[in-house]
Amino acid sequence: MTKLVINPNVKKSKIHKEIYGHFSEHLGRCIYEGLYVGEYSPIPNVNGMRTDVVEALKEMKIPVLRWPGGCFADEYHWMDGIGPKEDRKKMINTHWGGVVEDNSFGTHEFFELCRQLGCEAYVNGNVGSGTVREMSEWVEYMTFDGVSPMADLRKKNGHEDSWDVAFFGVGNENWGCGGNMTPEFYGNEYRRYQTYVRDYKADKKIYKIACGANVDDYEWTERVLHTCFRHSQSSQHGFMDGLSLHYYTHPEGWEIKGSATDFDDKVWYKTLSKTLYMEELINRHGAIMDKYDPEKKIGMIVDEWGTWFTVEPGTNPGFLYQQNTMRDALVAGINLNIFNKHSDRVHMANLAQLVNVLQSVILTEGEKMLLTPTYHVFNMYKYHQDAELLESHLDTKTIGVDDAHQVPNMTESVSVDTEGVMHITITNLSLDEAYDVDALILERPVTEVKGEILAEEMHAMNTFEEPENVKVKEFKNVKITDKGIAFTVPACSVLHLAVK
Ligand code: AHR
Repeated sequence: MTKLVINPNVKKSKIHKEIYGHFSEHLGRCIYEGLYVGEYSPIPNVNGMRTDVVEALKEMKIPVLRWPGGCFADEYHWMDGIGPKEDRKKMINTHWGGVVEDNSFGTHEFFELCRQLGCEAYVNGNVGSGTVREMSEWVEYMTFDGVSPMADLRKKNGHEDSWDVAFFGVGNENWGCGGNMTPEFYGNEYRRYQTYVRDYKADKKIYKIACGANVDDYEWTERVLHTCFRHSQSSQHGFMDGLSLHYYTHPEGWEIKGSATDFDDKVWYKTLSKTLYMEELINRHGAIMDKYDPEKKIGMIVDEWGTWFTVEPGTNPGFLYQQNTMRDALVAGINLNIFNKHSDRVHMANLAQLVNVLQSVILTEGEKMLLTPTYHVFNMYKYHQDAELLESHLDTKTIGVDDAHQVPNMTESVSVDTEGVMHITITNLSLDEAYDVDALILERPVTEVKGEILAEEMHAMNTFEEPENVKVKEFKNVKITDKGIAFTVPACSVLHLAVK
């Protein structure tokens, strides 16, 4: 019997809803086909946005969407994507497949999508190949309500009112595709560019995000903070509100990556052990941030994470289209539990990417759409959004098929929502063992418990022929005890329990 101890009296930190955030780039079929089909498409849409996709994302309570990249962001010139569509520039998407980008999805379309989704906007600006003026004018175009050249241009293009930009990224991966900069050079550029990301709305200040490290590049975190943070006493949080971190899970390494669907037990545990590395990254980058910002005002923004496998056979290698199995569900559940547990520092995370690219929650093919196992995990975990993280401890043991890739048998996180309902999410990483859990809930009688679960064989996935192979089922294997609850977590599963 495994012990889980939950202390409802210790509320540790708020789980920012943005931890459940997503990312959409002009890459492959994410924006075009996946989200946007255009007003004249036979696929049902509202102002060009796919109705089926929008409805599914609303159900999942998508809180925030990052756009337009990724590497695309540092080549994106926003003025190419405004005004009459027939006049918009056609360009080559040099990063992603060399295809024609006709700019039919631009700033107005992005905010229309956010409006339909009811989510916040996270816009990523161009430092690598853009100018300070270009960035500054974009912010003016989007957020200024008075009379000004950019506000007037927006009105001329059909949008009288300004939009709210909740988050703004000043460059992306500037250590690589965003300009191959050194940390000091980027740090200084960041200071300059962010100066002109003006707050036109006193009550809706833009949360500014600096480009953080690639994986374990602790040197980058240290040197960017050293450059940007020490002169920051004059403003509330210094020059930045957030610092990003990018970490993808690819079991076989960057060069080969491995198949999304064809893997054995060994690769299963290898993948999960690699995804668990996220916790070490958060701890070690967090320790550097603590030196500068002990009160944890600056958020760690994990704005790209998820699995990155070899593309589906026969698809464009530049489109990064991959299938999604129970392994992805476990990767999602494990990472979200980690983010919840570190919500004192992690303020936002954005899964890469929303539709048809990497670890997507939705795949589309023409008018068909399917929800991936990853979608179902986000849908089960949505109750953690803006809830309070509770102190909890699960007695785990180590499992695996080889010494190099041992993993804990389970992971968990627990929160309490505004209605006082407690939400427990558990992942069982074992391929063959179920675990009996005895949950001790301190000083809080339980009156009701409901559960839902995703539990299938490791290769299980949804296809356009069989879109409901993997779906959430009611979980009944739970009972109330005199000190809490007791339940059995099946092998290879992700579980959500709501406790009153
Ligand atoms: O998500 C795909 C790419 O991965 C992004 O464009 C880039 O930021 C990262 O390297």
